[in-house]
Amino acid sequence: MPTALETELAEKVISMVPNVEKVRFVNSGTEACMSAVRLARGYTGRDKIIKFAGCYHGHADAFLIQAGSGAVTFGSPNSPGVTPGTARDTLLANYNDLESVETLIKANPGAIAAIILEPVAGNMGCIPPEAGFLEGLRALCTRHGILLIFDEVMTGFRLAPGGAQEALGIRADIATFGKVLGGGLPVGAFAAAGEIMRHLAPEGPVYQAGTLSGNPLAMGAGLAMLTAIEADPEVFSRLEQKTAYLHKGLQSALEASDLPFQINRFGSMISVHFTDIPVRDFESAATGNNPHFKTYFHGMLDRGIYLPPSAFESYFLNDALSYEDLDLAIASAGAAMSRNATR
Ligand SMILES: Cc1ncc(COP(=O)(O)O)c(C=O)c1O
Repeated sequence: MPTALETELAEKVISMVPNVEKVRFVNSGTEACMSAVRLARGYTGRDKIIKFAGCYHGHADAFLIQAGSGAVTFGSPNSPGVTPGTARDTLLANYNDLESVETLIKANPGAIAAIILEPVAGNMGCIPPEAGFLEGLRALCTRHGILLIFDEVMTGFRLAPGGAQEALGIRADIATFGKVLGGGLPVGAFAAAGEIMRHLAPEGPVYQAGTLSGNPLAMGAGLAMLTAIEADPEVFSRLEQKTAYLHKGLQSALEASDLPFQINRFGSMISVHFTDIPVRDFESAATGNNPHFKTYFHGMLDRGIYLPPSAFESYFLNDALSYEDLDLAIASAGAAMSRNATR
């Protein structure tokens, strides 16, 4: 049974996110991505999807093929329990590598329903899309009748009120959301133009439902969060400035360590990889999963700074962090990795 709060939140999402006319609420980012892929398959009548190595879209079977985040941290990017049949329908491309996508499309003519990706990757550390990558994907999808799914579970309502679609000026066919949207409670959502969403049950044949979807508690929290964001549009530039400040500070603190490192940042997403090659895809990100990361993580923890506990996670700044907090983090990074520290 729908609630008034659900409708109110749906209207708010539609007013903030570009290019969407209808939204369906679920309970997690996993559900949102899983349902978006089913909708894309139902809409196109095709079976296969393309995902990118190192991108994480939740723990549904189809996504546990070279997944990032915890899946790769704990050493099981290809999970046991996922059948070969499911794995066969998930094709794997390399992030920031359009050619790898074109090759897959050529090899599977008329078979690909959707390309799903994190428009700014956060599950192999922060990896921004290089110039032309998203534009190229958009063009390939339009040319081949493939739906482009932006997984905005991390980027949604974080990079801009309209997420990465707004921040980067690229239109996706379906966008998925989670995290921020729930204001701390379990919420996910997927949204698209009415022409696509009308294929969903009960209007259309693609089944999706959930007992707790759209429950008033979660909808209330989401509504409070989006209302707060709307009332304070400066929050995005404030967060970006704080992240740029952290970036600059970490850069000079870590330079003193003589260790190779890379800092990637986009908006309020940032990460440090201890490697000497630019981090632009999963393979390069994996070179930073090494003992230096462990030294850094524990050195920071010992000094009271709790970072994401994986070399494959982005940091996300929140607005409660003060410049004093950031100074403490920067000084702690310098101390944790200094040549004199035991590392
Ligand atoms: C980009 C992205 N998509 C999907 C998910 C899955 O969301 P959930 O953990 O809410 O199922 C995550 C979770 O970290 C995520 O980062």
